Amino acid sequence: PYDRQVDALLGRMSVEEKLGQLQQLPWAYDTGPGGGGTKEVEDAARAGRLGSVLNIYGAESSNAVQKIAVEESRLGIPLLFGLDVIHGLWTTFPIPLAQASTFDPAVTERDAEISAAEARSNGVHWTFAPMMDVTHEPRWGRIAEGCGEDPYLTSVFAAAKVRAYQGGGTDGLRGRNRLAACAKHFVAYGGAEGGRDYNTVDVSEARLRNLYLPPFKAAVDAGVATVMASFNTISGVPAHGNTHTLTEILKEEWGYAGMVVSDWTGVQELIAHGFAEDGADAARLSLNAGVDMEMSSTNVTRYGKALVRSGKVGLARLDDAVSRVLRLKFSLGLFDEPYVDESAEIREPSKKARTAARETGARSMVLLRNERRTLPLGRSVSSIAVVGPFADSGDLLGTWVLPAARERFPSVRVLDAVRAAAPGAKIGHARGVDPEGTDTSGIPEAVAAVRAAEVAVVVVGEPPALSGEAAARSDIGLPGAQEKLIAAVADTGKPFVVVLVNGRPLTIGDWLDRAPAVLEAWHPGIEAGNAIADVLFGKVNPGGKLPVSFPRVAGQIPVHYNHENTGRPYDPDNKYTSKYLDLPHGPQFAFGHGLSYTTFEIGEPRLSTTRIAAEALERGDTVEVSVSVRNTGDREGDEVVQLYVHDRAASVVQPVRRLRGFRRVALAAGRSRTVRFRIGAEDLGFWTNDPDGTYRIEPGTIDVYVGNSSRATAKSTLMLT
Ligand code: IFM
Repeated sequence: PYDRQVDALLGRMSVEEKLGQLQQLPWAYDTGPGGGGTKEVEDAARAGRLGSVLNIYGAESSNAVQKIAVEESRLGIPLLFGLDVIHGLWTTFPIPLAQASTFDPAVTERDAEISAAEARSNGVHWTFAPMMDVTHEPRWGRIAEGCGEDPYLTSVFAAAKVRAYQGGGTDGLRGRNRLAACAKHFVAYGGAEGGRDYNTVDVSEARLRNLYLPPFKAAVDAGVATVMASFNTISGVPAHGNTHTLTEILKEEWGYAGMVVSDWTGVQELIAHGFAEDGADAARLSLNAGVDMEMSSTNVTRYGKALVRSGKVGLARLDDAVSRVLRLKFSLGLFDEPYVDESAEIREPSKKARTAARETGARSMVLLRNERRTLPLGRSVSSIAVVGPFADSGDLLGTWVLPAARERFPSVRVLDAVRAAAPGAKIGHARGVDPEGTDTSGIPEAVAAVRAAEVAVVVVGEPPALSGEAAARSDIGLPGAQEKLIAAVADTGKPFVVVLVNGRPLTIGDWLDRAPAVLEAWHPGIEAGNAIADVLFGKVNPGGKLPVSFPRVAGQIPVHYNHENTGRPYDPDNKYTSKYLDLPHGPQFAFGHGLSYTTFEIGEPRLSTTRIAAEALERGDTVEVSVSVRNTGDREGDEVVQLYVHDRAASVVQPVRRLRGFRRVALAAGRSRTVRFRIGAEDLGFWTNDPDGTYRIEPGTIDVYVGNSSRATAKSTLMLT
């Protein structure tokens, strides 16, 4: 669509104006090193040397900048305004990793719809979300922004979020409540060595295609308007200069017609990577590889004209990049309506939005442990001590929150929410320790509060600044003296619950065995306290599952469910097998794990056929897998029925398990139902190491597992002939 309008406009543009459309500059604040200033943005807009602005919001400010471009530049091409609306603008939802824990893509749709309405009314057209970097690295701070370690779960969430931001297909972008989405970071960023941000990635073609690319393909199939290149190298070639991934796979093999934006100074960084000699070289390499717009650094506008004149960048490539930018502006309706209605600006979270955030928060929580039915807390409990460094914190919002939102719309505090949920109970409180640091002088006061109470809630975790971009940690235990606080609480002998508020999997130390109950709440967003209280008091029965494995210690990383078997898989009775001598085998908590206040029984998987020809699958035939699930406890609850496959022998060895289906079902006590999945070619084949992309379905035996975690044991087999 819009080809005619785009071509007509292109025909009127000078090379400088074309290059200008490929430039994005930051406005009021920086989300990377350097950054210019508002004067630079205004001058560039006036001169027709600017296509887009990031980090701008507010109807009045965005309209003022837009007016310069529309009324003062020669061609009056409107600007595109982008912002990191990752899990909310004013209404901060739980972090994306928490949302993935729901195993319910409907929650991410609600976040996207509310965020899109809030952001678009503030003049924002485009969000740099969803992030869909699959990772096996909990040390990586950016794990908070994605869906964890599994490509299938991530793909389902990525596609759902893209559709909800954009309103289904690019035509929906004209809507007042829609945002253009951005599939990021393309690609394999989650493989950063050691979990250190921006670090090197060396990856085989098979792993690239089986692990990292699927969510991007799902986003492209869902019509994602833009894609952002990633900071890492991919087997020696930086993603921003990578023709194989950006052009051969994304634009040619997948036929992606949208726009590729660089990450912040990602073009410039080709020099530091040791890939480009200078700025001109960086512009040449990134443009020719397939980057269409440069964020923050200015090499394309600076050197583009000379590159085109010398033929180092073809005019056709330049026009293609500009067309992609212009097409997006047309599909957003910016040429018809460049301004936003200032009277309709949403300036605060609505009650409805808060309710959605609260429900999502509670739905995200994962009950890791619950001995002797410590949870839920009875409404009749007479006294509760709410202790820990995050018990009375208004900052449980997590990473990527607009500074103004963090200031104006803090989280509901756990302490306040517990007071409201148990109005008859005496509530004691002491912080005990700080989120970081070694000071333990506050512990006695916390211990006294615990001793005086019937039960204690200990809220510990990571401050938001310890997760997200540029927030890698080498030790992923509870920071500072928090474990000492837990030990002191345990020493009192009182029953207690540990509530974790964090942005990544944590290594849970020896205190795990001493804590009767542990609730993983992640960074739950604006309604944090209420959502936590809903689960603590049983108003909501927790049903979340881990989207990522929890290692026992950092030295065990990577530890993830979808690993390969090795030639010497773990065997406790055989020394010469793959293991650590000083650790029990496997993670502390497995992918897919999560308890409930009730219990469930999941039956054996029943297949509609136990043999099927690979050719039939290629033609589109599928196999139905049905499984019964029954609530065997005494109260209503949710279970996530999970389906995994394993290809026993393949020409590229396959992970021991691969998630290929999940369904979160709500069941009243004693009730049961049958859950049905369909598995087909997409679920049973794999990509090989062929750089041109070969997907294979090979004859052999597939194990099909169903259960309520990646440790599922109920199994059937399917013969592929
Ligand atoms: O969108 C982000 C990206 O994820 C990391 N670098 C900065 C960008 C814009 O803020």
